[in-house]
Amino acid sequence: METKNSPHGTITDNNHAALWHGRFAEGPDAAAVEFETSIHVDERMALDDIHGSQAHAAMLAKQGIISVEENRAIQEGLSSIEKDLSSGALSIDYSAEDIHSFVEATLTDRIGDPGRKLHTGRSRNDQIALDERLYLRRVIPDLQKAIVSLIKTLTNIAENHKSSLLTGYTHMQHAQPGSLAQHLCAWAFMLMRDVERLSDSLKRVSLSPLGSGALMGSTLPLDREAVAKELGFEGATYNSLDSVSDRDYCIEFTSDFAILQQHLSRMCEEVVLWSTTEFGFINLSEKWSTGSSIMPQKKNPDFAELIRGRTGKVYGDLINLLVMMKGLPLAYDRDMQEDKAPLFEALDCVQGNVIVFEAMIASAEWNLPKMEESCFGGFANATDVADYLVRKGMPFRVAHGVSAKCVRLAIDSGLSAIEDLKLEDMKKISDLIEEDIFDCITPRACMEGRKTIGGPGAIDRQIEVLKSFCGKF
Ligand code: ARG
Repeated sequence: METKNSPHGTITDNNHAALWHGRFAEGPDAAAVEFETSIHVDERMALDDIHGSQAHAAMLAKQGIISVEENRAIQEGLSSIEKDLSSGALSIDYSAEDIHSFVEATLTDRIGDPGRKLHTGRSRNDQIALDERLYLRRVIPDLQKAIVSLIKTLTNIAENHKSSLLTGYTHMQHAQPGSLAQHLCAWAFMLMRDVERLSDSLKRVSLSPLGSGALMGSTLPLDREAVAKELGFEGATYNSLDSVSDRDYCIEFTSDFAILQQHLSRMCEEVVLWSTTEFGFINLSEKWSTGSSIMPQKKNPDFAELIRGRTGKVYGDLINLLVMMKGLPLAYDRDMQEDKAPLFEALDCVQGNVIVFEAMIASAEWNLPKMEESCFGGFANATDVADYLVRKGMPFRVAHGVSAKCVRLAIDSGLSAIEDLKLEDMKKISDLIEEDIFDCITPRACMEGRKTIGGPGAIDRQIEVLKSFCGKF
């Protein structure tokens, strides 16, 4: 490491020493360096770090803290770093402690002294909080777009299957007749909430922490509001101590990811179940299935299983963050460096899962006769028998009993459906039952008759809501 005299005193020429090396007589142990660096994880925020630094330097110049020329050199230097990183002319130096150190050192290598002014009025504590927020604001819309694309695919399939019968289950027992469209729209509405939840969380990263410094702000006349606006934020955060201690947004987004992952996992469970020989509702394409090394006949739903199987990772990431932050005193503690790995892992995981699920479901075939068959044989129209009697004036509780007796009689007579009973036998249970009951309790009549908002007989309205939601993205 060379030293030289400058008008500002002795400065080192080694721009790549740790940013804090000045206080230390001895360099750190190599193993210590390896243990504490975070560049392998935070390198993905390089762009955000550069943009944050550019806005910071511009503000410093506007406030007269650095000169116009120094700012120009910093802007050009940072732009050249951005360009070279994206072209591959510059690669990340993994011996740097973190992305902030790398960018600053590279800048100083390129432009000399002005680079040494970049960190004026700033700490890595507000810098990292800024970078994370900028990164999330940049990439979360991509995840939202991927989810919206999946919602569109589900809505399109639903639109083609408004009248494709599919029974609904509760407790995995036949419950009431429904449609494939109703089921796919149910998935779509789960996902719609995920998109909205992400938008809600984005509101909580709409303020900039830059200018909070290490923890107590700055004695320099920084214009926090201006730099915040420059970076597209609504304004500056309110309390410097809170701003550098806060990692709520990491937890909040990861909990959004965990809920999204829960939805995907439940959807995958149904895909796995539906692709069994027993159910046979869905036939996954060969492109999105795998085989067995020993059983030649196999076509396995591995992609649905892998998505389902990665739920542990995403839930684990959320617990990781919650526990890591638990009990940390204000302000910054190095524990907090551990926030990025789980945040990024969960994000990457759900984003990949959404994309794969869409490809898998879009290329699948639906076995309509099998689905229709599912509406028979499980007394799924028993509620409709009760509703029929209610329409004839019978109190629901009494009608429930009459329908139950019909089910009982069918089972005792070895029949698998209420409609297989003779009218005269049903009439013995209730003389309100007439010939017209048979038309009222076909699976199609039961499905189409459920016209209440949200029901399978009112699917057009659901499809409209989903389409207009997707249209906004
Ligand atoms: N690499 C650090 C992190 O990700 C940046 C902040 C470092 N601050 C500090 N006081 N050591 O958290």
